[in-house]
Amino acid sequence: MNKFYVTTPIYYVNGAPHIGHAYADVIADTLARAHRIKGDETFFLTGTDEHGAKISRSAAETGKDEQVFADEQSKLFSDLAESLNISNDDFIRTTDKEKHWPGVIAMWKALRDAGDIYKGTYDGLYCVGHEAFITEKDLVDGKCPEHEQTPETISEDNYFFRMSEYIDRIRATIVSGEMKIVPEARKNEVLAMIDDGAGDISFSRPAKDVSWGIPVPEDAEHTMYVWCDALTNYISALGYGKEGDGARKMAQFWPADVQVIGKDILRFHAVIWPAMLLAAGLPLPKMIFTHGLIMSGGKKMSKTLGNIVDPNKIINEYGADAFRNFLVTDMPAYDDGDFTLERFNEVYTARLTNGIGNLVSRIATMIERFSNGDLARPTNELLQEVALRQYVSEVGTDKMVEVKGQDAELYITTIVRQRYNEAIDKVKLNDAAGIAWALLKTCDGYIQDYEPFKLIKTEPEKAKAVLWNAAILLLSGTRMLEPVMPETAEKIYRIFDCNWEEDIVHWKGIRATHPEPLFPRRDSKT
Ligand code: MSP
Repeated sequence: MNKFYVTTPIYYVNGAPHIGHAYADVIADTLARAHRIKGDETFFLTGTDEHGAKISRSAAETGKDEQVFADEQSKLFSDLAESLNISNDDFIRTTDKEKHWPGVIAMWKALRDAGDIYKGTYDGLYCVGHEAFITEKDLVDGKCPEHEQTPETISEDNYFFRMSEYIDRIRATIVSGEMKIVPEARKNEVLAMIDDGAGDISFSRPAKDVSWGIPVPEDAEHTMYVWCDALTNYISALGYGKEGDGARKMAQFWPADVQVIGKDILRFHAVIWPAMLLAAGLPLPKMIFTHGLIMSGGKKMSKTLGNIVDPNKIINEYGADAFRNFLVTDMPAYDDGDFTLERFNEVYTARLTNGIGNLVSRIATMIERFSNGDLARPTNELLQEVALRQYVSEVGTDKMVEVKGQDAELYITTIVRQRYNEAIDKVKLNDAAGIAWALLKTCDGYIQDYEPFKLIKTEPEKAKAVLWNAAILLLSGTRMLEPVMPETAEKIYRIFDCNWEEDIVHWKGIRATHPEPLFPRRDSKT
């Protein structure tokens, strides 16, 4: 049995969850669910990043104790995961002293024992918004352009991590594909960053300035810098640094198969994190998948522009599946995407109400009417007679292509499944979903081609064989959409009284009952 370990970034708790958080959750969840369907032993981790100066200040602004503030805010993120129907196996919090801290302390000690932690003086410009030192050349009019704040000038004693030691090895593993950076454009970006020069990095802050964090082992005058603390979550959750059974998951699941991140945290994940792992003698993640930013009406979301999309509002109004589907199918997996309510409504009506919703209702109703709700497997001769003659060949087009007669099951198991699995492996999720949607188009075209509603009057057995094939196309498409729209898939399986155990189900019979609409029609003006 294969294993599959997927992670999201852990989210800063200083603000409310937004669409960027929902996006990483949904990408990772789609992968986790697709791998569980494949039969892989899957572990899916998400969580919250709760230490550092920024969070300490946000807590102070609300007049709350840091831990109380972090508890409340972290709950907003776990609640979002729940309303998005995210199937995470664990939720790690960096303030969890039992689950998280031992791993971070073990990581620090491993780096120290490797001779890669040393004390030095750091002079630099510190941007609180970034939680990081920034350089003079990043500034516009003396301010950090992203946070519109003047950075603080800081000179302090820090512990440093000897990252420079590992840069050549990291470069080589990226070039060889041993650690894949996907998509290609991001890989090139990382290589350029490395070639631009990557020295040692500051790994702690004086506790007198930042106390909200994990103290440096044996030197409580220093607090670990937020990145050593945060990045280690991916293994602390597996029990890194613990003994015996406590470390069982570490042995079972590490290295991660896919780490999902946004492009603004690429350097940390593709350079700093691998350097830490190498220094600690641990294997590197197999893939770092970097999604793009979701813009709102073509602009970066910001409070000032008032164009922030609240994921909770969309979920409450349209349901989690409609939102998940939009994020996966309609955002380009490898690029930036754009969210507008108009487009969302259009997709909802076209793809969900008039698309899958209508198709399910038509096929189930015909099976009920023409066959009393029960279809037995047609003979092979009959299936040959009603073989697929055309299918939608290209993702993203509706073009039907003529094919030589082959039955629906064969078509799915040979052509479609393989392309779908390849897209999942490349985390090209919009293509994977597109392949499933194209299968539903094929199903629709197949019904139009044979017109079972007419055929039933003259050749009822042939009409039932057409319905058989149509149901198989529909249910197989649904199975491929299940990682994206789990609730809808369950509803469809219930309507057709069908159970899946593997990718390919050998159907004995199909039963259907008349369904309620899956995606009620909505007035697009609301
Ligand atoms: N806490 C760090 C990550 C530490 S991981 C060891 C962090 N947190 S964050 O809450 O600020 O950001 C989490 C993720 O949201 C990042 O991957 C970031 O790219 C993503 N997004 C923030 N805004 C976004 C959009 N508008 N669109 C898509 N994702 C974006 O960084």
